[in-house]
Amino acid sequence: MTVIAVFNMKGGVGKTTIAANLAAAIAKNGVEPLLIDLDPQAHLTSMYGIKTPSSKSIYRFYQGLSSLSDLAMPLPSGVQFIASHLELGKIDAQVARHRDNIWRLKLGLHAEMLSGSGLPIIIDCTPMLGVVAFSALFAADIILVPVASEYLALNGAMQLSQTLYGLEKFQSRTPRRYLLNRYIPNQITAETVAGQLTKHFPGEVLKTRIREQEALAAAVGCGSNIFDFAPTSDAATDFSFLLDELIENNLLSLSRDLPFIHE
Ligand SMILES: Nc1ncnc2c1ncn2[C@@H]1O[C@H](COP(=O)(O)OP(=O)(O)O)[C@@H](O)[C@H]1O
Ligand SMILES: [Mg+2]
Repeated sequence: MTVIAVFNMKGGVGKTTIAANLAAAIAKNGVEPLLIDLDPQAHLTSMYGIKTPSSKSIYRFYQGLSSLSDLAMPLPSGVQFIASHLELGKIDAQVARHRDNIWRLKLGLHAEMLSGSGLPIIIDCTPMLGVVAFSALFAADIILVPVASEYLALNGAMQLSQTLYGLEKFQSRTPRRYLLNRYIPNQITAETVAGQLTKHFPGEVLKTRIREQEALAAAVGCGSNIFDFAPTSDAATDFSFLLDELIENNLLSLSRDLPFIHE
């Protein structure tokens, strides 16, 4: 398993926070992952303070004008990063003309021998259900679904599960894991959501919970990750646990002998 799509149709549940810090956790373990900002809102790209023209962004790849490897840039944290751009939104609008875009990411990762090579690839997905989101879901070996510990979270998770079920017409079921985020221990709502999730999705809810922690929001504000910003914080511990759990469950492996091509 190498390609992890961090996905939820709901905004604000922690997709970007989780994608960025999971990639940082992998890098901290000495393996250089590929992190792709696949949201036209480009929050991750802005968070890193990257101002790139659309010609240097993932939009170029969806236009068929660049390889993924050519777009990747190294971040100081030891992550290879592909930036996004507002223009990526055009891909969803062009669905009638370019239906094949739905497979583009899967085929591109395969053609460049990035998927299946052991290279961890983390995709920060757009919440907009369109071609771009579907292309990530089709490329994924595992779908990681952050669920915020809030009222109606279960409804959102059930809707999402139905949407993913619809994709099974085109491709066999992709394993998925639900990750409770913004968790407040012993808070009634948080514990209720945790209980409901486990009941409805047995075997698919990760034991790790990412607690509600100011340090995570503050790290984003500084364009940093939790391991550089607050390495001894509970948040850093939560992300280390998340990585360990994914590895223990064979959903990710950290091989140090990877094919990522450096310029
Ligand atoms: N565990 C957490 N503790 C505190 N703040 C969080 C946590 N997870 C996310 N946030 C904050 O919530 C907001 C939305 O998170 P974000 O990762 O951008 O969600 P999404 O990508 O799903 O829209 C951001 O301001 C982020 O800093
Ligand atoms: Mg986001």
